[in-house]
Amino acid sequence: AKNGKLKNKNVLITAGGTKEALDPLRYITNRSSGKMGYALAQAAVEAGAVVTLISTVERRLPFGSKLIKVTDAREMLDTVLEHFDKTDIFISAAAVSDFRPAKQSNQKIKKTGNQGLKVELVQNPDILATVGAKKTGQFVVGFAAETENIVEYAKNKLVKKHADMIVANEVGHPDSGFNVDNNRVIIFRPKQAQKEFPLQSKIDTARSIIEEIIKSVFE
Ligand code: PMT
Repeated sequence: AKNGKLKNKNVLITAGGTKEALDPLRYITNRSSGKMGYALAQAAVEAGAVVTLISTVERRLPFGSKLIKVTDAREMLDTVLEHFDKTDIFISAAAVSDFRPAKQSNQKIKKTGNQGLKVELVQNPDILATVGAKKTGQFVVGFAAETENIVEYAKNKLVKKHADMIVANEVGHPDSGFNVDNNRVIIFRPKQAQKEFPLQSKIDTARSIIEEIIKSVFE
């Protein structure tokens, strides 16, 4: 996608797994490494975009892009909302925790005898659905990380989250998805045939996704 097609376009990308604190020492998170989000930032920079990454993890930043470090889902949502108005393309590659501990203890949670610990979880806001519902011309791209029924769940997410594109990846396999260098994706758009890509490196997957976004936005 080295064609400058995204010149002067603001691309906002989320990456990494959110960390939902239980106490000052402990948090609930997932296996996301941020690799997919950072690869998308690289591919968008190659296409000429002005890229802002909102991420829970620090990796090598693509030249010219900017990183805003966040920790949990609510902080990620606030930061996305601060930038969304001036965004042209939003890509939600972060693995946002669906749940967080209902209570966040200010002090270390201690053992009491040999009893276990019950932790109540409450639902986090859905960042993609929130911006999908309030978009005013932004092109909104979500992911779908599924272990089964990938096509059905991805199509549901397209509608429910008002996305312009859903990139589905099957997770739970050792060769693609979370925390590896390769991925295999299927792209869904409203009223269009789904498009399947082979197993590729995450950077090539990202270049394919950016190319599909460019086609959708400009053609
Ligand atoms: O980071 P890596 O190790 O490279 O792995 C990449 C990846 C597998 C994490 C990535 O390719 C991916 O699939 N990211 C989305 C993970 C996810 O949260 O999927 P989901 O199907 O649960 O969510 C669907 C979409 O809604 C996603 O765009 C997600 O960012 C968004 N979401 C979900 C929950 C929530 N509370 N807020 C959200 O915005």
